[in-house]
Order: sequence, then structure tokens, then C-alpha cells
Amino acid sequence: MKLSMFPLLVVVVSLAIPAGAAERQMMQSRVPADKLAEARALTSPLPSSPEIVEQGKALYNGKGACFNCHGKDGDGNGPVAAQLNPSPRNFQYHGFWIHRTEGEIFWVIKNGSVGTSMVGFGGQLTDEEIWSIIQYERGFADEHGPA
Ligand code: HEC
Repeated sequence: MKLSMFPLLVVVVSLAIPAGAAERQMMQSRVPADKLAEARALTSPLPSSPEIVEQGKALYNGKGACFNCHGKDGDGNGPVAAQLNPSPRNFQYHGFWIHRTEGEIFWVIKNGSVGTSMVGFGGQLTDEEIWSIIQYERGFADEHGPA
């Protein structure tokens, strides 16, 4: 290797490390270990349909107010997102949907992710409402193609 390339290589490697760590952190399930088997076994009782997607959309932007943090387009960049650490999930990112079962996603929406601003919505939303929101949220990744 020519010595002149060395600084470039250092920059590339140091940029790659934090991105990889963030990716690993995101991939890890938010369901506590002792609830994981139970959460993974959960499956949606709802058929896939445009009506359910519409219902999920109304809840996402209405009663659930999910858009405040996750953004109207599901990009994780809602009006209050900048103040939050960790950041709200970006639903447009395909990797997220690949690394979770729908049961784990349901469990976190219902019970929350401990230590984050993602509180559980079990008191406000019925199970069916949560499943319909998941059907809507999944569309954010489909619309934006593989990332
Ligand atoms: C006050 C801000 C806020 C609101 C409102 C909010 N979320 Fe979140 N959400 C977060 C944050 C922050 C995370 C990331 C938590 C983490 O990294 O563990 C998150 C993570 C998630 C995840 C990913 C869980 C996982 O397994 O990684 C899902 C799904 C989710 N939210 C759905 C919803 C839905 C559905 C609503 C509305 C009913 C909602 N959120 C409302 C802040 C919010």
C-alpha cells in the first residue's frame, strides 16, 4: 500500500466502527430475556387488508400519536425526536423488520422499551389497534425500498 493512502484508510475504518456498533445495538431485541419466548410466539390475528392499514394509519397519526417521535413518514424523525436519546426507531429501515418477529414488535408497543421514551401503549390501545398500527408501519419500509 502506498503510504499516501494511509490517512484515508484510517478515516474509512473509524467511520465504519460507530456505524457497526449502532447497528448491533439496534438489532438487539427490546423484549426482556425472560419474556422473549412468549413475545416471539405472538402473531397478528388480523388479515392483511387496505382497511386495516388505513385504521393503523389513523391511530398512528391520531390516538397513538406515534408520529410525534417516529415521524409522519416513519423515518424516526418526528417533531420531538431530536430531544430523545436513544432515538426513535426508523421504520423505513428494512434491517429493523428483518431482525424482529412481529410478536416482539407488538410486545414493545404494548409494554414499552425500558429506559427509553418508548413507553408502553397497552393502557391506551387495544391489542387489535396495536396490530393494525404494525401493519401500517411495515408499509414505510416497503414504500422506501431496501435500505
Ligand atoms: C415519546 C416518543 C415516542 C412515541 C410517542 C412513540 N415512540 Fe416508539 N419508540 C420511541 C423510541 C425512543 C424508541 C427506541 C427505543 C429503544 O431504542 O429501545 C421507539 C421504538 C419503537 C419501536 C421499536 C421496538 C423495537 O423492538 O426495537 C416500535 C415498533 C415503536 N417504537 C412503535 C411505536 C408506536 C406504534 C407508537 C404509537 C402508538 C410509538 N412507537 C410512539 C419513541 C416513541
